Amino acid sequence: YEMVPVTGVQTCALPISGRMQRFALILLLGASWACDDAATADLPLPEPEPEAAVSADMDIDAAVIDAQVEPDDAAAPALAPLPVILGLSAAQDLDPANDLVEIELHAGAFTLPIADNLQVQGYGYNGQFPGPVIQARVGDEVVVRFTNDLAEPTTVHWHGLRISDDMDGSPRVQSPVAPGETFTYRFTVPDAGTFWFHPHVRSNEQVEKGLYGMFVVHEAEPPVFAAERAFVLDDILLNGDQIPAFLQTHPEQMHGRSGNVLLANGRASLAAGQAEMGDVERWRLVNVANARTMNLTIEGALFRVIGVDGGLLAEPYETARLQVAVGQRYDLEVRYAQPGEVRLLSHIAVVENGAIVERPFALQTIEVAASDRTPMAVELPRVDPPARGQPDRSVRMVFDTVPDARTGQRWRINGLDMPEEPLFTFEQGEYVRITLVNDATQEHPFHLHGQFFEIFPDGTAETEQPGLKDTVLVAGNSTVHVLARLSNPGRWMAHCHILEHAELGMMAEIIVEDAP
Ligand code: C2O
Ligand code: CU
Ligand code: CU
Repeated sequence: YEMVPVTGVQTCALPISGRMQRFALILLLGASWACDDAATADLPLPEPEPEAAVSADMDIDAAVIDAQVEPDDAAAPALAPLPVILGLSAAQDLDPANDLVEIELHAGAFTLPIADNLQVQGYGYNGQFPGPVIQARVGDEVVVRFTNDLAEPTTVHWHGLRISDDMDGSPRVQSPVAPGETFTYRFTVPDAGTFWFHPHVRSNEQVEKGLYGMFVVHEAEPPVFAAERAFVLDDILLNGDQIPAFLQTHPEQMHGRSGNVLLANGRASLAAGQAEMGDVERWRLVNVANARTMNLTIEGALFRVIGVDGGLLAEPYETARLQVAVGQRYDLEVRYAQPGEVRLLSHIAVVENGAIVERPFALQTIEVAASDRTPMAVELPRVDPPARGQPDRSVRMVFDTVPDARTGQRWRINGLDMPEEPLFTFEQGEYVRITLVNDATQEHPFHLHGQFFEIFPDGTAETEQPGLKDTVLVAGNSTVHVLARLSNPGRWMAHCHILEHAELGMMAEIIVEDAP
């Protein structure tokens, strides 16, 4: 693939050297980097070349994105096979039973094949990056025999799955899996939707180094699409082919680590996909970046949002631009109404000639062949809207930051830095309004384990963000209201999903007591 021309762009102290120009990487600058830290910045950064960046012909490596079909269940007479998910390889289900998914998963050192001439020493699940997509049907029992082949402890957290807390991968509930040790995660998946998994120990390092994967729970009767495609969206910070040391710079402590290479399904550039006019596809998106909010558009096709964190929506909706905070998922219905090129674009703020401008970078191109057959019709399952009501109780969580001599910065919830004690104790079934107050200029994608909530930014239905979520973006100096039905008893983490903020204190727990 081609080289990106290098010019002397001044940025907020991204530790990048001119060696980066060896690679035609997409060099990025987070939107929030229009920061007060510019004085510390003096390293030249290659400037992205928009035309080259949006043409998707830089690097074709179809082998990496070939989907693998799950082997047929030998003793499975009744159920149709699960949909194939393009873009990721599937974890193999080792158990033939219909309602049991058994997976071997190991975390270990792995060389990330980010591009054909760029390998990066990192971590992988099952020697893959991203990890294999785990697939189940709603209601299935899932058994993951996990082995830690890393030289450091880790856990696996199943982000968004409402399972029991002792299987949630929280290091406060489960002692971390030591190097060489194994742990068997066993749970039943109660909700259909697009989820993901990642470590919950030193997650700012372990996730950045490559430990993440998508977890798809299919509906009991999955709607039939021409194809399902996965997009696991990330950015990685590289200095040459190295991942630089963590939490060393003030910008990283303030904004979290923004990468300078955009990744989709672990690659700096994906091979073009193929489709036919009239096809309707399901795209599943997850943002697994440490800190970067993704702003996406799709060019050349019609799309609407059919699902979010907690599964399919009662009422799908159309939008021109999709904002995906870290941790969040979106399911899209993508309709190819005309032949030609369809592109999934990520809009990134970059510095050009001293000014901050937004540039589109293509994550994926689909070549749509002409066809005169009747356009597909897809019937989505009926979904009931979440039950509303008056909250039983209202609580507030206030986010702020203070400087710290040892770590540079601390991030807090209600003035508490990584508290041992739970922030709140609730009762199972309680319907709670949580008011999230952000007293800092940095944004916080706030995440609650084990539960879903609805989002009403200013507390009214007019500002509702449809569907059930487990992660909500709280913009700088703003307040957001969420309504949570606390269905799932246990000890649950409540934290910022900017992993640096979490690691620097912005990680607490709530307790949901069993209903008497
Ligand atoms: Cu992605 Cu504590 O979670
Ligand atoms: Cu989570
Ligand atoms: Cu945060």
